[in-house]
Amino acid sequence: MRRILIVGAGSAIAEATARIFAERGDAIFLVGRNPGVLESIAADLKVRGARAIGMEVMDAGNLSAHVALLDRCEEFLGGLDTVLIAYGTLSDQKACESSAELTDLELHTNAVSVAALLTPIAARFEQRRSGAIAVISSVAGDRGRQSNYVYGSAKALVTAFLSGMRQRLYKAGVSVITIKPGFVDSPMTAAFRKGLLWAKPHRIAEGIVRSIDRSSTVAYLPWFWRPIMFIIRAIPEFVFRRLKL
Ligand SMILES: NC(=O)c1ccc[n+]([C@@H]2O[C@H](COP(=O)([O-])OP(=O)(O)OC[C@H]3O[C@@H](n4cnc5c(N)ncnc54)[C@H](OP(=O)(O)O)[C@@H]3O)[C@@H](O)[C@H]2O)c1
Repeated sequence: MRRILIVGAGSAIAEATARIFAERGDAIFLVGRNPGVLESIAADLKVRGARAIGMEVMDAGNLSAHVALLDRCEEFLGGLDTVLIAYGTLSDQKACESSAELTDLELHTNAVSVAALLTPIAARFEQRRSGAIAVISSVAGDRGRQSNYVYGSAKALVTAFLSGMRQRLYKAGVSVITIKPGFVDSPMTAAFRKGLLWAKPHRIAEGIVRSIDRSSTVAYLPWFWRPIMFIIRAIPEFVFRRLKL
């Protein structure tokens, strides 16, 4: 049985992942911004077989709330061995281009707050010499594109932060898993026209649980994003700057 903290538990991908954990009988602590959403997810997870379900409302952008939240989560679960950080906002790129404040807020939510939250989690797991930390980054962090580089650069920070943390925590036996989904049909992308490359949240969720169980390092989900992003990264800048991506 795992004792799992999910931050951003209201996310469609997180909810689908929590369902798999619940069906395996894991104990789960849900954290999100919307109490009504958390309550309905908690009720569903209980029915699906979760051993215990705790919850707390927190805006992850409020860095000073992180440590006390971790304390209460550990107290409720009687320890903690698995963390999934799933929250995020899809930045309005055009609006960010004319607002430094909005750009700051987007970078704070998608990058700075994630790094801040990971800091005490990493310290606790390193001291205990065990644990799994999975964070949802994005393929968007693999290369900045004109259509979404505020969001992409925040995810790039998360990806690089996790890479360094993985090296540091390897010696302590703590696994750090970078989840890089491609296009996922969730509320975040409700306004987008969907095509062949799109995946449903439950497919991403299966990949997340598999990656945690196997202590993977970097998981592109679905798998075909790994070769796609290999090619995107390989395009030379003098060509890339002319592309309309
Ligand atoms: N959908 C995609 O195509 C895609 C692709 C690659 C990566 N991702 C990443 O996957 C993760 C999950 O996204 P999703 O697709 O499942 O979208 P989603 O259903 O829209 O979920 C996003 C969640 O993040 C929460 N959130 C936003 N800001 C927060 C904050 N400051 N504190 C706490 N919670 C906050 C939202 O809460 P509220 O409901 O309160 O706003 C919402 O529950 C995100 O990190 C996203 O960047 C998504």
